[in-house]
Parts: sequence; structure tokens; C-alpha cells
Amino acid sequence: MKQVYLDNAATTMTDPVVVKAMLPYLTISYGNPSSPHELGKEAQDAIENARKIIAAKINAKPEEIIFTGSATEADNLAVKGIAYANKSKGRHIITSKIEHKAILESCKALEAEGFSVTYLGVSREGLVNPQDVKKAIRKDTILVSIMHANNEIGTVQDIAAIGKLCKSAGIYFHTDAAQSFTKIPIDVRAINIDALTLSAHKIHGPKGIGALYIKQGTKTHPIIHGGSQESAMRAGTEHVANIVGFAAAANASSQQDIRKMAMLRDYFTRELLRLPKVTINGSKIRRLCNNINAAFHGIDAETMLNHLNSRGIFASSGSACTASELEPSHVLKAIGLSDEAANSSIRFSLSKFTTKHDIDYAIALIREIVSSLRSINAVNKIYISK
Ligand SMILES: Cc1ncc(COP(=O)(O)O)c(C=O)c1O
Repeated sequence: MKQVYLDNAATTMTDPVVVKAMLPYLTISYGNPSSPHELGKEAQDAIENARKIIAAKINAKPEEIIFTGSATEADNLAVKGIAYANKSKGRHIITSKIEHKAILESCKALEAEGFSVTYLGVSREGLVNPQDVKKAIRKDTILVSIMHANNEIGTVQDIAAIGKLCKSAGIYFHTDAAQSFTKIPIDVRAINIDALTLSAHKIHGPKGIGALYIKQGTKTHPIIHGGSQESAMRAGTEHVANIVGFAAAANASSQQDIRKMAMLRDYFTRELLRLPKVTINGSKIRRLCNNINAAFHGIDAETMLNHLNSRGIFASSGSACTASELEPSHVLKAIGLSDEAANSSIRFSLSKFTTKHDIDYAIALIREIVSSLRSINAVNKIYISK
């Protein structure tokens, strides 16, 4: 059976080019980067080369990149690290209701420790109004954390405007760019970002590796204690192969891939909208090139996903981290969807490896499944009303 993978916001296939770059560091070049001998130096050089590559992608300095075990860890390091290091200045943080759980749960943990957090609402399209950020700033605000692109609905925030007003208020600005990295150009200097989260496995790199950009001079604390790896900001022996793979994945991304994904996203969206009672969640304009989130009104998303799964089409009903929760997505609720609409919504996310043939194949099956589920619903309604 043909398989079509449309869950690239959850994770992506590791690019063969990435696997090739990683292999030497899983086999012959296995030294500990902290060891003083030749094999250790080889590993350290590989890390520093990768750091340069990642830094260059966002116009940062190599020493401003801290490799972490995941984007979740990078988010924790940004929020908790900055909060702990600046608590004598203030204990107030501003974030949004549609952040990834890595941010929301970090904020919750800080609230339990006496910090106060403002969770900003978003528009129907999922946009944070920069003016709302401005209004929420207090004397004791130390950090604003607003994600760049949302993992469920793909909405892209105006981080340039938010960065500008944080700078003028003298407040640190963190943004989670796990979904947008390599898909939207990011220049941390031009848009005044103090901390930025990156992930490898969303861009065809390996799982279990992320990074945090921290602007030089930003007052922050480590959250993992031990050795002095990563400028003493993240203790623990580095996963050299994963770091090398991360950089190889970043290098393998291209503008051409982005244009292709955006074209396929638009085509997929048009085809879905031809089906009855389908609406698109999120913004039409400020949207990631690979994200489609559609509500199939009157159809239970989990039932539809099971049908799609049994036919080889892999998608999801939201964030992979919360897929096991029965509650409707916090993001879809925040944009004002009813429980019914939220529970009928499915996220399809594309990658550079997705083809038009994949989309046509998926659309044909979606059409068939939607029509069969709708007719079952109609029969049930007649039966129940009798
Ligand atoms: C926006 C965002 N932030 C953070 C994460 C966490 O990434 P990781 O799986 O590397 O911990 C994800 C992954 O889904 C994400 O989409």
C-alpha cells in the first residue's frame, strides 16, 4: 500500500544526506569532545563547525548557539534560565495562549515558584497583536516569549514588531522557531531577538537535538548542572553525530523547497475547500509554507484519522505532544473554535519530499472517506430521530 506522510510538523524523515554526514561520528570518530587527544579534538572540531553553520543561518555569532537535547529543553532553558537570572529585577513574564506545551508548562512551573505570567489571547487567525504585548508590559516584566510559527495552525507572528517593542522597554524577547527554522528567514540581529529556539527533527535532521540562540550579554542561568560543556550553559557530553546532522539538515534546506511546499499547500487547500463543509483554521496569509489545518465539520477527526491511517495516509489532529489528550486543542480553542469544530480539525503538514502525486493520492482518499463518514452520519441521524 502506498504511504503518504503528511505529519511533518510532528517530525520529518531524516534526509539521507544528513545520515551520511552523521555516520562517521557514530562509528570511527567516536571521541568525547572534551577529551584532549586527537579523537576528542576531531569531535570538538565537528561541533564547532556545526555551530558556525547554525549560527550563520540566523545571523548569530557561533558562541551564541547552545546545543540542547531538544527544542523542549531549549524552551525550558530560555524561559526558566532568563527568569531565574533576572528575578531580582522582576518576576513577570508575557507569553501567548497558543504556545507549545514546552513554553506553557515552563511558565506554569515558574508560576508555582512565585512568578506571574500573562497569557495573551490571539485573533481568530491565531495572531498575537503586538499592541496587546505592549499593554501587558509591567514594571516587573522581565521576559516576553512569543512563538514564531505555530505548530498546529502554522500562523506566523509579527516577531519584528514584538522584538522592537521589547527592545524599547528593555525586556528580553524569546521566540520559539522550532517550526519556522529554514522555512522563514530569521535574522536575530535585525529583529532584536535575545533568545531563539531551534529544532533539528522538524527539518529532516535527527531527533533528540535542538539549540538555543542566546544573544551575547543576555543574563541567563543554566538549568542542567554538571560539566562545563556548551559554555557551561548545558552540561553533559554532546551528541556529536546529532549536532553534525543538525547542521547538515540546515545546510540541505533551500528556497526552492520552500516555494514548492507553499505551492503544494495552496493546491491542497484549494482541493480541500471543494469538499462540502470544510473550513481552514489559521491565517491565509501569515502561514507556514507546509501547514494546512482543516475542519471537516460534522466529522470526528479521530475517526477520520483512523480511516486515513488504515489507507496509508498519516496526519494528525494537532500537536504530537498532546495527541493522547482527549481535550480539544488549546490552540484551536484559543482561536475561538467550538469544541465541535476543534474536534473535527486535522493538521496536514508537508515536507520537501512531498510530491504533487502524494497530494492527489491523499485528496482522492480524503474525498472518499469524508463522503462515506458523512453518509454514515446522515443514516445515524435518521435512525436516531425515528
Ligand atoms: C513550536 C514547537 N516548539 C517546541 C517543540 C518541541 O520540540 P522537541 O520535539 O525537539 O522537543 C515543538 C515540537 O513539536 C514545536 O512544534
